[in-house]
Amino acid sequence: MLLNMHDYNHQNGTHRPLFKIEEVQFEKFIDNGHQSHAFYDMPTARTSFREKISNPDLMLLPKVLKAHLENYFPSLIIFHGETAFGKVAQCHLFIPEYQMRTRTYVLMFGQAKHPAFKVLGNKFLNFARVVVEQDADILGKIYPNTPQKIKLNNEVGMDWVRRNFASFPETVEPNFSK
Ligand SMILES: [Fe+2]
Repeated sequence: MLLNMHDYNHQNGTHRPLFKIEEVQFEKFIDNGHQSHAFYDMPTARTSFREKISNPDLMLLPKVLKAHLENYFPSLIIFHGETAFGKVAQCHLFIPEYQMRTRTYVLMFGQAKHPAFKVLGNKFLNFARVVVEQDADILGKIYPNTPQKIKLNNEVGMDWVRRNFASFPETVEPNFSK
């Protein structure tokens, strides 16, 4: 689950139908040991007027979704996002229950720039719900414990998870900033 949450490549696959993400442009990773920051941009596909009418949620999406993840290994990720209507901070909390079961809580905070934001609050909550459902659905299908063959530039978050998982609760010298 942590590999998935820190896999900055999966958004344009797993969450593509929801956000219409075309690609992930990785920008920066700051490694502070058990705490880290990741910054990346996700340009979204253009939506036609017809698509917007049939799925009004798409109107909430900016042309580029700018993401800043503030990570606290192993139990908290804060997604900081900005839209035309306001700022959101989406806090994902992970509580291990059994070996094969983790409970997730999502707390959302919003700062409105526009009165519409208050009305749209539930829409943003709904995005969070669908994101969690999509992630839960793919967990069993990917990330098998097999050695990796190809390495992508965006995988620094997964490397950060593997390193911390192996050494936890000790902190090792941070070496993934880029
Ligand atoms: Fe995801």
